[in-house]
Amino acid sequence: MKKILSFIPVLFLLASITVSAQETVQIAVQADKPGAEIQPTMWGVFFEDINFAADGGIYAELVKNRSFEFELPLSGWRQMPKQNGTGRIVPGLYYPNNPGNPHFISIFPDPASGSFGLVNEGFRGMGIRKDTQYNFSVKARLHEDSDINMKVELVSPSEQVIGSAMLSDFNGEWSGHKVSFSATETEARAQMRITLSGKGGIDLDMISLFPADTWKERENGLRKDIVQMIADLKPGFLRFPGGCIVEGRTLENRYQWKKTVGPAEDRKMIMNRWNVEIRNRQAPDYFQSFGLGFYEYFLLAEDIGAEPLPILNCGMSCQFNAAEVVPLEELDTYIQDALDLIEFANGETSTRWGGLRAGMGHPGKFNLKYLGIGNEQWDEQYIERYREFEKVLKKNHPEIKIVSGSGPSSAGRMFEYGWNELRKLSPDLIDEHYYMPPEWFLQNAARYDNYDRNGIKVFAGEYAAHGKEGADPESRNTWYSALCEAAFMTGLERNADVVHMASYAPLLAHTDAWQWRPDLIWFDNLKVMGSPNYYVQKIFSNYSGTRIVPALSEGKALSGQNGMYASSSLDWKKGKLYVKIVNSTDLPVPVRLDLGRLPYTGNAVKQTLKSANKEDFNSVAGGETVRPLSAPVVLKGRRVDTSIDPLSVNVLIIDIKAR
Ligand code: AHR
Repeated sequence: MKKILSFIPVLFLLASITVSAQETVQIAVQADKPGAEIQPTMWGVFFEDINFAADGGIYAELVKNRSFEFELPLSGWRQMPKQNGTGRIVPGLYYPNNPGNPHFISIFPDPASGSFGLVNEGFRGMGIRKDTQYNFSVKARLHEDSDINMKVELVSPSEQVIGSAMLSDFNGEWSGHKVSFSATETEARAQMRITLSGKGGIDLDMISLFPADTWKERENGLRKDIVQMIADLKPGFLRFPGGCIVEGRTLENRYQWKKTVGPAEDRKMIMNRWNVEIRNRQAPDYFQSFGLGFYEYFLLAEDIGAEPLPILNCGMSCQFNAAEVVPLEELDTYIQDALDLIEFANGETSTRWGGLRAGMGHPGKFNLKYLGIGNEQWDEQYIERYREFEKVLKKNHPEIKIVSGSGPSSAGRMFEYGWNELRKLSPDLIDEHYYMPPEWFLQNAARYDNYDRNGIKVFAGEYAAHGKEGADPESRNTWYSALCEAAFMTGLERNADVVHMASYAPLLAHTDAWQWRPDLIWFDNLKVMGSPNYYVQKIFSNYSGTRIVPALSEGKALSGQNGMYASSSLDWKKGKLYVKIVNSTDLPVPVRLDLGRLPYTGNAVKQTLKSANKEDFNSVAGGETVRPLSAPVVLKGRRVDTSIDPLSVNVLIIDIKAR
C-alpha cells in the first residue's frame, strides 16, 4: 500500500505536465474574407434497400410477401395451427393476365371444422402500437357455391389478440376489400392471423396491413419515425435506389425503374440482391416489393426538400458478381430508360411518362436536375458505356447534371484510370466511394486540398469509417468512427469548391435483419435510433453555411496538426458564422478563435458531441450514449476562448447582425 501511495504524486505530476503541455491552438477565422460557395447539395443522404431499409423498414407495409410472389409463394406465411381449424391452402397462378403479380392463393376450409386460415409473420414480427389505427386490405374472389367470411387478428407472441376485424361480402369477381381497426396493445413482434369461415373456397392476393399513421398520413405510405429522422438531417439531396441494387447480381436482377411505378399491385417483385450477397448474413426472405418505387422516392425527396438523384444501370451487372455486360449496340433500351425517366420526372402531363406521373397523383414536375449513370463500375467496360449515355443525354438534356463513377476504391489503378478517362469526357460530377478504417479518415482530411479547382466536381457518394465490431449490431458505429468521419468532413467542407455532394453509406439498418454495418440510422419494428455518425452528419448538414470561410492555424488549414481539425462557413441570410472543430486527442485543448471583422451580436453557442470511450455507440434497445449538448460561448469582441473537450466534435454557432 505504502509503495502505491508513493507513486501517486509522481503520476499526478506526469499527468499535469502532459495537460499543461497542451498549448493554446490559435485559429484565425477569416469571416470577413469568405471564399467559394458551398452548394445547397453539399450534405445529402444515400438510400439503398439494404438491411431491410425499404420492405420491413421505411415502407410501412407490415405483411411480408403480401402478393405471394417470393420464390416460395408461401414464404412469410404458415397455415393456422390445427386447433384453430383445418383445410387446404393451394398456391395459384393467373399469369399471363397479370405478369406483374401472377400468383395468388386459394383457401378451402374443411367442411368439418368450418374454418381455416393462415398467419403472416411480418418482417421479424410486426410492430404494433396501442390505440393506433391499422388499415387491412385484400383482393379476393369467391369460388362458385361458396360462402366465406374472414376474421383478421393481430396476435402477440403469447397468442393474445391485440386487434381484430371482420370482412364479408366477397363475390365471384376479383375485387378489393378493406377494413380498419385499432390495436389494444403495443407489441414489437406481433403476427397477423387470417381465419376464413364458411363453405367452399376463396382466392386471395395482396393481403396488406398498414398503420394509418404514416409519414404525412399518406395511405399505404412510409414509416413516419424513420422518415422524420432523415428529414431532420435537412439533406441537400437524396441518392436512390442504390448502390449495388442498381446493378443487380445479374442483369436480370438489376433495378428497372419502369417496373416500380404505376399501381403497387402490378409492380413485379424481385429478389433483393442482399438476400444472398453476404455469406454470414443470408436473408432468404429479402425481396423487393417496390411498394417504395421511383414515384415514392421522388415524393420523399420533395417532402424533405432534397434534390432527387436517381442512379440508373449503365448496362452492366455488378462486377463483383456476374459482371454481365450489355453489348454497346444493344444499349439503346438502357439509354431510353434514362430519357424516359427524365420525362417521368420533368415531362409535361401530355407526354407518356409525365402523364403516368400525373395519374399517380403528381401533375407538377419533380424538377429533376441530377442523374447518375452506373453505380460503382470500373474499367474500360464502364467508360465505353458511360460515353454512350453521355452523348445522348448531353445532346437531349443539357440541363441535367450527370454523375459518373470512379469505382469502389479510393485510390489505385482503377480509380486513376476512371478519373483520367472521365476527364476526357464531360460528366458534371464523379462519384467516389471509400469504406476505410477510422485512421484513414484522419489521415485523409486533406484529400481534396490538391484537386483541380477547375476540374470535374466530386460527389463523395458513399463513405463510412469501418472499425472494430462487437456482438451488438450497432457496435460498429462507434464514437471513434464518427469522430474520424467528422475530422474528414472538415476537409470536405473546406474544399466545397471541389466537393459538391457527400453522403454517408448505408443509411438504414434493421437491428434484426441487417446485412452490412456500420449504418447511419438503426431501427427495429417500433423504434429508431441515430448513431453517433448520424449526429456528426446532422451537425455538418444543419450548420452547413453558404460560403467557405478560411480557418487558419499558423497560416495553414487546421487539418490534423496536434490531432486538431477545423473548418468554417458563413450563412449571411441566416446571420450565422459556423466554426467546426474536432479534437481527436485524449486531452482537452484550449483554443483561441480570432473571428475577423463582422458585426457580431454577442450571441454564440457551442454544440458538442463527445464520449469518453472511443468504443461507445448508441443502440435502439440500450439508448443514446452520444448526443449533442449545447452551451453558451462568451464572445470577447471578435475573440472566443474555449476549451475543446477530448475526443469531441464541436460546432460554434455565432450570430451576426443581419445586413
Ligand atoms: O453501401 C453498401 C454498398 O457498398 C453499395 O451498395 C455499393 O455501392 C458499395 O459497394
